[in-house]
Amino acid sequence: MMNEIAFQVNTDDGTRSVRARAGQTLLEALRDAGFSLNAPCGGNGTCGQCRVRIGDGAGGMEVLACRAFAQEGLDVTLGADTGVKVLTDAVEITPEGAGLGLAVDIGTTTVAAYLYGLSTGKCIASRGAMNAQRAYGADVISRIRHAGTPGGLEALSSVIRRQIEALARSMCPDLRHIRYISIAGNTVMEHLFAGLNPESIGVAPFTPLSLFGTETPASAYFDSFGDNCVLYLCPCVAGYVGGDITAGLLSSGAYRHDGQVLFIDIGTNGEMALGGKDGFLCCATAAGPAFEGAEIECGSMAKDGAINAVETDLSFSVLGDTEPSAICGSGIIDAVAALLCNGILDETGRMEGERYTFGDGVYLSGTDVRKLQLAKAAIRAGIETLLQKSGKDYDDIDEVLIAGGFGAYLRVRSACAIGMLPPALMGKLRHVGNSAGKGASMALTGSGRRELEALHGICRYEELSSSAVFNDNYIDAMMFDEWEEVYHE
Ligand code: FES
Repeated sequence: MMNEIAFQVNTDDGTRSVRARAGQTLLEALRDAGFSLNAPCGGNGTCGQCRVRIGDGAGGMEVLACRAFAQEGLDVTLGADTGVKVLTDAVEITPEGAGLGLAVDIGTTTVAAYLYGLSTGKCIASRGAMNAQRAYGADVISRIRHAGTPGGLEALSSVIRRQIEALARSMCPDLRHIRYISIAGNTVMEHLFAGLNPESIGVAPFTPLSLFGTETPASAYFDSFGDNCVLYLCPCVAGYVGGDITAGLLSSGAYRHDGQVLFIDIGTNGEMALGGKDGFLCCATAAGPAFEGAEIECGSMAKDGAINAVETDLSFSVLGDTEPSAICGSGIIDAVAALLCNGILDETGRMEGERYTFGDGVYLSGTDVRKLQLAKAAIRAGIETLLQKSGKDYDDIDEVLIAGGFGAYLRVRSACAIGMLPPALMGKLRHVGNSAGKGASMALTGSGRRELEALHGICRYEELSSSAVFNDNYIDAMMFDEWEEVYHE
């Protein structure tokens, strides 16, 4: 190769020599070499999360991998993702057939895989990991953008397929024993897995190339599973309401409900559905990456060292029982609720002083609060719009189901105090864990897939991006004017 250079990469697993093209950034070179860095902003230099150490000993320094260039002989050290939590709670499925089944939930942030004995319906093993595509950006928009660059779609497809294979192999060394694979993901994740360009989902009218719900020989995507292995992609409703939501409506039992259930998956997009056995109205709102700690000055994923809970007296707890080094999504929501209680934030979101420091350089700034305010307003406005479009109000809702990895750590009281969820629904909230993974597991059987397809048939989609009702709700939802209702009850 012309202008090829080589440098050393040190990780917890040892040292590797990596070849790169001169002029590549470290992020590009490391991604090409198969390293999975955290790069929420996709290499724009704005998130500060792609830090690596270059040089060794006292002369070493931290740099942003997306801003530093690969150089001959450079010594690069990558940090470890210690203690990142991935939900892998499983269900028992209807026994059917023989051999093994693999269910996979491809989340934008994390991937969870479950191995089932098809004749027993029991989960034999499960594994979770950060989505290896995160080196290309934290949210679906940055992945869509990367898929449009030369070689980008192929890179994103192969990275996720390789990761699924590796997760499966860690549970079952001989993949030929796996007879059936069922995958649930949001619409963009399913496109990228299938090698379809999700570009059209990124621009109005956000039309996907496929809504999936189809069976294909697994050999179309992998060459290590058996010849007869079949792969199923859970059906999507629209560009931003994917197979993870239909799978979640299946496993949570929402679709069997007589009355009204509100199902919400909170992440970089807030995807939600309101309804029950007679049908669902679904929508999605762009919340941005604040809930995942990205683009927050001291933000991080929920990992060791992150402040994950803040009490109303501003005392806090840290994951992994160490000194705080960052604050994660659930901690940010708690912190804003606590700052409101203590009069440090007013109801418009204005902060007394420029920042509130929790300890040792870990703080929340006024700019961070503004980002959270936009994110929570998007979720709340989605809920209000679904209610209005369905002609329902809070009293009509029997239960609110909170899905997904972030939802599992979310403290309901704080979410209501900041107005992300309506305080009137506080007593009706229930966490449903990794409902997408559980739904994908149920779709390993014919009866599960038939139910999934039946419920898919009764989902309607409401596009919010051009909705005047949504816009009005969004503006109303910006205020922090409900916390007293929550804490003074
Ligand atoms: Fe480098 Fe965001 S700052 S990926």
